Amino acid sequence: MRKKIVAGNWKMNLNLGEGYTLVAEILSKLPSLSESQQVIIAPPFLHTQQTITQTQYTPFVSVASQTCHHETSGAFTGEISATMLKDAGVRYTLVGHSERRAFNSEDNALLAKKTSAALDAGIDVIFCCGESLDIRDAEQQNDYVAQQLKESLFHLDAKAMSNIVIAYEPIWAIGTGRTASAQQAQDMHQHIRSVLVAQYGQEVAQNTSILYGGSCKASNAAELFAGEDVDGGLIGGAALVADDFIGIIKAMIAAK
Ligand code: 13P
Repeated sequence: MRKKIVAGNWKMNLNLGEGYTLVAEILSKLPSLSESQQVIIAPPFLHTQQTITQTQYTPFVSVASQTCHHETSGAFTGEISATMLKDAGVRYTLVGHSERRAFNSEDNALLAKKTSAALDAGIDVIFCCGESLDIRDAEQQNDYVAQQLKESLFHLDAKAMSNIVIAYEPIWAIGTGRTASAQQAQDMHQHIRSVLVAQYGQEVAQNTSILYGGSCKASNAAELFAGEDVDGGLIGGAALVADDFIGIIKAMIAAK
């Protein structure tokens, strides 16, 4: 079943007290969700346990990490493995966010390993892809995103793909206030789904949730989520304000 998802990526924001207050406010205002609708919160690692404790009795709300290491354990100072995250109660992890690609030199090959490590540990992956403005201006975005999917995901079999969510986040729209138009988002999501059809067939492709991320707000979420292939959003800045995040969740619930 293809799920509609709103995921909040807090990035490196909020101390523990602020995170606690934000989650409490989100939960107090959360509309009721059904099985086909998921709300995911991806706080910094330090918040993981607290956020899991706060959300554990709220159906269809789960906690993600913003990354994980590609090895299970060992001498990797400062890192956290997917097996540790699974043990703590984490359900999803982001893999391949453009900020990690840019600031931590994570390339497609490493992201393939991280994806496998997460799935092996029993954590679902929200795989982030998306092009820079240069690539968009050169009209190469379709090939570029297809290559990201191919090099980081296509070692997986069809069964493993059922535990993958894809998040299309054009880099030029992240934190810039410049959103992709609803048509640009839908066009890319349709392209991503067609790439999945070619690799895995209709059933896998139709069951894969594809989220849009990049300056998605309560005011533009309904328009973005109206796209046939847009199954929700991966939200940065607007996930840090309870009313804004709730507005986006309501748009996801109301969408088609
Ligand atoms: P903004 O919503 O702040 O543009 O961030 C999007 C994002 O990077 C979510 O992962």
